[in-house]
Amino acid sequence: MTTIVVAMGENNEIGSENQLLWHLPKDLKHFKELTSGHPIIMGRKTYESIGKALPNRTNIVVSRKKNWFQEGILIVGSIKEAVKFAKKIDEDIFIIGGGNIYEQTMEIADKLEVTLVKANLEADTFFPKIHENFWKKTSEVFHEKDDNNPYDFYFQTFEKIKDNSL
Ligand SMILES: NC(=O)c1ccc[n+]([C@@H]2O[C@H](COP(=O)([O-])OP(=O)(O)OC[C@H]3O[C@@H](n4cnc5c(N)ncnc54)[C@H](OP(=O)(O)O)[C@@H]3O)[C@@H](O)[C@H]2O)c1
Repeated sequence: MTTIVVAMGENNEIGSENQLLWHLPKDLKHFKELTSGHPIIMGRKTYESIGKALPNRTNIVVSRKKNWFQEGILIVGSIKEAVKFAKKIDEDIFIIGGGNIYEQTMEIADKLEVTLVKANLEADTFFPKIHENFWKKTSEVFHEKDDNNPYDFYFQTFEKIKDNSL
């Protein structure tokens, strides 16, 4: 199973100036629970935004840069290569962004784990449109804002509609 994980606002906004748009500890915990123990694939900019390898997961970073090395991560030159390596480690792999990588992986993903944040924020990076012809929402759980989590949000799961007519 290839799963995309994303947190986005009401206009599909996901980032600005290479940072996230919110701090939602409940969402970070959810992200950790989903991805721990599995390979994660990310773009070079997302890796730089996080600033370190995430523990207990093989971190695979996609970049076209040559001669670029960082401790604790596997750097590959294409998404195809990233997926090939990830699948050797585990059947369940997670694509964690950013916008550029999401655009290129919607086609190969089987599942989307979306945190829909009830906010409208200024952004420079967006998640692609989730087309209802291709994706079926199979789960939705609402979480109300609290002292530590400043926005209401939903955890949503979408599964790709397999075309059985072919
Ligand atoms: N809200 C969320 O869930 C979430 C999740 C992740 C990220 N974000 C946000 O998204 C933003 C970053 O996203 P972004 O779209 O700017 O960048 P990105 O997707 O993280 O990284 C783009 C970089 O990946 C490499 N790349 C992309 N396609 C490639 C390919 N086909 N082959 C080889 N390398 C490839 C290139 O690196 P080189 O330039 O090194 O060649 C490219 O510059 C930040 O604001 C971050 O905070 C949000």
